Amino acid sequence: MRTQIAAANWKMNLTFQQGEKLLDDILAAEIKLKDHQKTIFAVPYPYLTMTRSEVAEEKNYYAASQNCYHKKSGAYTGEVSVEMLHSLNINYCVVGHSERREYFLETNVILADKVNLCLESFIAPIFCCGEALAIREAGTQNEFVTKQLEESLFHLTAEQIKGIVIAYEPIWAIGTGKTATTAQAQEMHAHLRSVIASKYGEAIANQVPILYGGSVKANNAKELFSCPDVDGGLVGGASLVAADFIEIIRSLK
Ligand code: PGA
Repeated sequence: MRTQIAAANWKMNLTFQQGEKLLDDILAAEIKLKDHQKTIFAVPYPYLTMTRSEVAEEKNYYAASQNCYHKKSGAYTGEVSVEMLHSLNINYCVVGHSERREYFLETNVILADKVNLCLESFIAPIFCCGEALAIREAGTQNEFVTKQLEESLFHLTAEQIKGIVIAYEPIWAIGTGKTATTAQAQEMHAHLRSVIASKYGEAIANQVPILYGGSVKANNAKELFSCPDVDGGLVGGASLVAADFIEIIRSLK
């Protein structure tokens, strides 16, 4: 079975102490993940080492960065390089979250650089794509996300694309409490997989996990994750509440 992932995205929330307690509470549930299941915590930079050591003994639990800089190193005050993340033994990095695209003007081209740097350092990018409401209303969402994949990922080799996790996050569903219906999620995930298949072949496309993000909650995760092409979720708000995220992890296929 394809890898199934429950990924928490804390964004810019929680103090260090609150984050530590949240992890303790979630790990205290002692959910034993199956070989094909993973739980990933994308936390703020200063919490990476703590998170990494919290999950160190837990099978298939990982710490992830929420971002990285698109240059290797140098005079970029305040930025964090992929090499730094690698030196902390971080295995995953969220790349191209819609909030980064919107507030920090990250383009598909910049994101391609981030993806390359991550792969060079053996960090798996969790590459986010997804359309805004106006695009959905115009009915051009498929073309829009296709372009995001083409411009940021399609220079990769077949071997490299297998190391990517994709997160489909319709912007109109992020933090709004408005979730895509299972039909909308499945339709888009199947589309994304077919776009990957058209470039890399079906066998490879079938190995790439595609997560759904956008108001995943404890009470809708199971239904969303039951879609054949939805391989788990990237979860914001509900990942900040231990009981909710525990339920979401338990909803993985
Ligand atoms: P949300 O955020 O679950 O709060 O909608 C999801 C995300 O932005 O990753």
